[in-house]
Amino acid sequence: MPAQRKPIRTVVFPVAGRGTRFLPATKASPKEMLPIVDKPLIQYAAEEALAAGATQLVFVTGSSKRAIEDHFDSAPELEAALEAQGKQELLESLRSIVPSSATCIYIRQPAPLGLGHAVLCARPVVGDEPFFIHLADDLIDAEVPCLKQMASVYAELGGSVLGVQNVERRDTDKYGIVAVEAMTTRVSRITQIVEKPKPELAPSTLGVVGRYLLSPRVFDKLARVGRGAGGEIQLTDGIAALLTEEAVYAYAFEGKRYDCGSKLGYLEATVEYGLKHPQLGEDFAQLLAKLLARRLRR
Ligand code: UTP
Repeated sequence: MPAQRKPIRTVVFPVAGRGTRFLPATKASPKEMLPIVDKPLIQYAAEEALAAGATQLVFVTGSSKRAIEDHFDSAPELEAALEAQGKQELLESLRSIVPSSATCIYIRQPAPLGLGHAVLCARPVVGDEPFFIHLADDLIDAEVPCLKQMASVYAELGGSVLGVQNVERRDTDKYGIVAVEAMTTRVSRITQIVEKPKPELAPSTLGVVGRYLLSPRVFDKLARVGRGAGGEIQLTDGIAALLTEEAVYAYAFEGKRYDCGSKLGYLEATVEYGLKHPQLGEDFAQLLAKLLARRLRR
C-alpha cells in the first residue's frame, strides 16, 4: 500500500526564454502565445496542469511576456461586447480559461540565465512542497494528461518524476539524456542525467521532455550548480545533484509529443490538431488533400 501523499498544488511555467528559433514572430510576443488552431500553447499547458490537480499556476516571465498575463486575466470590455452581440459560446471560451478556484502568479526572471535559473526564481512561491514544471512548447496529446500520469507515479513511489521519450540518437544534443535502471515498462530509476550530450557520448537515447515533478530539494541544488552547458544555469545539473540523494524516476508517458519549439514540430501539431478539431476537421482534411494532390502533380 503506497504512503499517502499530498496532491501537487503548484505548477511552474518557465516562459522567460528568448524563443530565438521563432524570430521574428517572437520578437514582441512570447513563443508560448503561438496558437495551435485557436488556443495558445500556454493555454494547453494550463489545462493540462489543472487536469492534474494544480491550483497554483506560477509563470516565470521575462521581457515581452505581457501577453501571457493578459491572456489569463479577465477582459471586461471584450466580454461585454461579446455579451451584447449574443456570442455566448465565445464568451464561455474566454471565461473558462482559468477556473476561479485556481490562482495565477507571475514572477519575473531578471535575465534569461537558463531554465534552472528560471525555476529557481519560483522558489519563494513554491516553498517546501513537490511541484510540477511544464514547458509549454512541448505539447503532449494524451488521453490522460501527461502531468496527471506523472502524479500517479509519484503517488505510488514518491521522489521526483521526469517525463521521458526515446529520441533519435542524432538528436541527443537537443535534450537532457538519462541513464536508467528499468523497473516496469514505463517507469525506471534514473542513475545519471546529462544535458545535451553529443550522440557518441550520450548514455542512452531517453530524452527528458518538458514535464517534471520535482522534490523541493532541487532548489538547494540549483542555488549551487553555477553555469553549465551554453553558459546557462541548467535544470539538468540541479537534477543531477538531486539524484545523488533522492530517487528520481523516468516515466515514459503515454501520448504523442509535439516539439512546438521547432518550426516543423509546430507545423505538425497545427496540422494534427486541425484535423482533429470538431468544427474544422472535415473541411481541413479536404483542403489538405487538395493541396497535397496539387503539389504531387507538379
Ligand atoms: P528553450 O531551450 O526552448 O529556449 O527553453 P527558448 O529561449 O525558449 O527558445 P529558443 O531555443 O531560443 O528558440 C526551454 C524552456 O525554458 C524557458 C523557455 O521559456 C522554455 O519554456 N526558459 C529558458 C526560461 O524561462 N528562462 C531561461 O532563461 C531560459
